[in-house]
Amino acid sequence: MALPPGFRWGVATAAYQIEGAAAEDGRGPSTWDTFAHTPGRTADGATGDVACDHYHRWPEDVALMGDLGVDAYRFSIAWPRVQPTGSGPANARGLDFYERLVDGLLERGIAPAATLYHWDLPQPLEDAGGWLARDTAYRFAEFAYLAAERLGDRIDTWITLNEPVVVMAYGYAFGIYAPGEELLLGALPTAHHQLLAHGLGTSALRARGAGRVGIANHYSPARPRDAASEADTAAAGAFDLLMNRLFTEPLLLGRYPDLAPLGGPDPASYIRDEDLPVIAQPIDLLGVNYYQPTGIAAPADLSSPLPFELVDLPGHPVTGLGWPIVPDGLHGLLTGLRDTYGPLLPPVHITENGCSFPDEPGPGGAVDDAARIAFLDAHIGAVRAAVDEGVDVRAYYVWSLLDNFEWASGYGPRFGLVHVDYATQKRTPKASFAWYRDLIAASREPLAGG
Ligand code: GAL
Repeated sequence: MALPPGFRWGVATAAYQIEGAAAEDGRGPSTWDTFAHTPGRTADGATGDVACDHYHRWPEDVALMGDLGVDAYRFSIAWPRVQPTGSGPANARGLDFYERLVDGLLERGIAPAATLYHWDLPQPLEDAGGWLARDTAYRFAEFAYLAAERLGDRIDTWITLNEPVVVMAYGYAFGIYAPGEELLLGALPTAHHQLLAHGLGTSALRARGAGRVGIANHYSPARPRDAASEADTAAAGAFDLLMNRLFTEPLLLGRYPDLAPLGGPDPASYIRDEDLPVIAQPIDLLGVNYYQPTGIAAPADLSSPLPFELVDLPGHPVTGLGWPIVPDGLHGLLTGLRDTYGPLLPPVHITENGCSFPDEPGPGGAVDDAARIAFLDAHIGAVRAAVDEGVDVRAYYVWSLLDNFEWASGYGPRFGLVHVDYATQKRTPKASFAWYRDLIAASREPLAGG
């Protein structure tokens, strides 16, 4: 069966991972500047100071997207460029950059899809408590308003937040991403404050006449190590509650799942009843980021503060980062969302899917990333299968256009359709670029025989 008319093929990036120009045109520091500049936090001490130098090379990158033929480009607007201290009036030069980019995209017929918060919180807001502070949600709404005031007439798709679960878990619970807090279940209020930011931000965007609004959630289906073990199955349920349902039920059902079994701070100390309708206001799309399922077992150590532990999922090929390649996980996730939420599930956009391998040019200069082609082919197949079964999926974005700064892992993992030589900033489209270009072109051809 064909994908629905108007289905969008895209590519995705995020500001801190590609832009560089960390102190240019009035940009203030973000938590990721601070974190990456703290010794020992990132692989080889890598930072986003220069990254892919996209801030200066965006015309070349937009031209690449023109060659690729994508319908849409998902990028993020760096909050510290727009509000260098996280509050107060807009820094016009910061918005000028995104205006140039958006106009460049539109000239090539590429629809801009902007994410407002892809993890680069202005450092002064972190100093005031970051996502542990309720006030940060109100500051986010102000930022959203300023962005839409300038760009709302040209950006048709807005994503409020990227992967609030990763910010909670990696950023505040385990300390492996910025801001590097290790609060374990003490991080739970950051989930609520981010969801509140999403709700307040959605209202602010709509007040400025923004088009489609949604959020990009990270979904990792939980697979018990031993499906016959009650303890492992219960542990997988707890993981699913904390990592997936906690970020979906308030949005789509207007209530939180029962958090009591998890422990952690009393929800009544940070959740107010009146927040739920703000969080649950209808959205135009649910962004789904999918990379891999997670193997889960009951904790071996009974004194563990968490009700599960992560284990390997044997029996699957793996990416360069050792992540299991399980396209069927994406299919099951999509049909599962539909089965669980039924008519309350808005149209789904796959806002990220992709893989990293240590791709390097061969002797002739070409980058033959056959493994990425196989990965994308299988995952797009999984999306098609879900669409055939009636799931309303309207867009698919490959992560990522370019090799880029992969957070704490630095520049080793390469996720791009385009190889970047960081010493020279030379861009080389990989074999997967041509493959994706041909797939997009073929999907536009009228079906033979009608
Ligand atoms: C996502 C994230 C992206 C990118 C990707 C690959 O979690 O949103 O920024 O890094 O993972 O790991």
